[in-house]
Amino acid sequence: MKTIGLACLIALTLPAQALAWGEEGHSIVAEIAQRRLDAASLAKIQVLLAAETPSVDHPAASLSSIASWADDYRASHPDTAAWHFVNIPDDRSTYDPDADCRNGACVVDAIARFRTVLADCSKPAADRLEALKFLVHFVGDVHQPLHATDRWDAYTGKDDQGGNLIPVMFFGQSTNLHAVWDTGLIMRTVYDWGAYVVRLETTWFPGRDLTGLSGGSPADWAADSHRLAHEVAYDIPDDGAIGARYFTKAQPVVDRQLALAGIRLARLLQEALAPTPSCQ
Ligand code: ADE
Ligand code: ZN
Ligand code: ZN
Repeated sequence: MKTIGLACLIALTLPAQALAWGEEGHSIVAEIAQRRLDAASLAKIQVLLAAETPSVDHPAASLSSIASWADDYRASHPDTAAWHFVNIPDDRSTYDPDADCRNGACVVDAIARFRTVLADCSKPAADRLEALKFLVHFVGDVHQPLHATDRWDAYTGKDDQGGNLIPVMFFGQSTNLHAVWDTGLIMRTVYDWGAYVVRLETTWFPGRDLTGLSGGSPADWAADSHRLAHEVAYDIPDDGAIGARYFTKAQPVVDRQLALAGIRLARLLQEALAPTPSCQ
C-alpha cells in the first residue's frame, strides 16, 4: 500500500520524460531506409543482424526490429542520454560543435562516431552491430524537431528540455509537447507503424523531387530540425491546448521528417558500407 502510494506520488509529480520518437517513429524510419538499401549493403547488414537474438516480437532481425534498442540502452546507461539530441539554442540557427556538443555528447557527433565504427571492417562484428543499432536510432532522433532544440522557459525559469517540461493538452489528453512529437502526432495519423510506412510510400514519396534532400550532413539535418521546432512545434496556443489547428500544420512536418530520415539513413548506411581497398 505504502509502495503504491509512493509510486502514485512519483507518477503525479514527475513530468513524463519522453525519450525519442516513440518506437513507432523509429520503426517507420528504419523500414523506409531498409526498403531503399542496395543489395550489397543489405547483405552486409543482414550478416551483422544475424547475431541478434530473435524474440517473439521479432523472430527475424530487421532494421525496424533494432531501431529502438538505443532507448532501452539509455535507460540502463544514463551516460548515453545526451547522444539522443542536440540542444541548439533558441537564438542560433546553425549547429556549433564547441557550444552544442561538449565532449562529443550530442546526436550529431554520435552519428559521426558510430558511422566510423560501422565502416571499419577491422572492428569486431559486435562493435559494428552496436554501431548500426545506434545509427538507425540516432538518424531518426536528429529528425525529430524537438531533439534539436531547447528553449528557455520564463515560466519555470529553466530550459524546457526540448519541450519535455512544457505541459500541454493534446486533443483533450494531458501530456507534454515533446511527447506530442515523439508519439502523439504519429499515432493520431496512423496507429499502426507499418500502415504509416504504406501511407508515406503511397502519398508522400511518389512524384517528389528528392534531389538534394537525401544528402546533407547530420549538422545540416539538426539545423533543419531546429528551424522546424521554432516554426512549427513551439507554435502552441497560450493555453497549451493543442487540437485540430495545430495538427493540420504539424502533421505534414512529421511526414516529411520521417520520410527524409529514412532516405538519409539509407544513404548513410550505404556510404558507410561501400567497398573500399581495405574493406570489401
Ligand atoms: N533532454 C534535454 N534536452 C532534450 C531534447 N532536446 N530532446 C530530448 N531529451 C532532452
Ligand atoms: Zn524524444
Ligand atoms: Zn532516442
